[in-house]
Amino acid sequence: MSIRSYFMAKFYDSSMKKIEEQSFSKWRRELLSGIKGDVLEIGSGTGINLSHYPGSISSLVLTEPDAHMHKLLKKAVIDSGRNDIKTNDSSASQLNFQDGEFDAVVSTLVLCSVESPEQALKEIKRVLKPDGKLYFLEHVVASDAPGLIKWQRFFQPFWKSMCGNCHLTRDTEAEINNVGFKFELIERVNSIGGPPIVTPTIKGVASKKAGS
Ligand SMILES: C[S@@+](CC[C@H](N)C(=O)[O-])C[C@H]1O[C@@H](n2cnc3c(N)ncnc32)[C@H](O)[C@@H]1O
Repeated sequence: MSIRSYFMAKFYDSSMKKIEEQSFSKWRRELLSGIKGDVLEIGSGTGINLSHYPGSISSLVLTEPDAHMHKLLKKAVIDSGRNDIKTNDSSASQLNFQDGEFDAVVSTLVLCSVESPEQALKEIKRVLKPDGKLYFLEHVVASDAPGLIKWQRFFQPFWKSMCGNCHLTRDTEAEINNVGFKFELIERVNSIGGPPIVTPTIKGVASKKAGS
């Protein structure tokens, strides 16, 4: 447990306030509105997605390996009054679940921070049922804006060290594709309310079926 992760957890919600209000909160709600069945979320952080899950899902497990974030996550679950929601501290690179346990896995702003997106995506695929789906919302490399990529590359070492290993130049769309998921829906959008280096974002749903 480092002092940086303590501060990241403590100030996460307040540092995200503007970008949440102007972009992410709406996108989270839209993304999760159609989710069904047994759901696993990776890297849940402070539990920012909690209020966006429809009451109709069958079960929800929120995972978060960082001890400081996990503490806040547990509190958010208690405060939500939903005692059907479980928390778990497993890392996305080694999920502590059986093969094929979930109908859906949710990853919002996490694949930028895991050690290996490929390993995390393989684990996500493993724990999904054969017709399971990945719901994602991730900031990514500015592939169609060379001027911005230059700044993403420039700031990346500093950003990674200050923001919990968050990479600015990951091509998460290609990573999802390379692991064998099939996109059912993908939107490339630019967030507002945050620094330009984190604006390029992808959101959508990718299916394990036909990709496996
Ligand atoms: C930028 S925060 C996003 C939090 C939340 N998902 C959201 O949408 O705001 C990144 C989160 O990923 C978590 N994380 C980092 N490495 C991880 C890993 N290997 N497995 C799962 N979560 C991880 C961090 O602890 C942190 O909570």
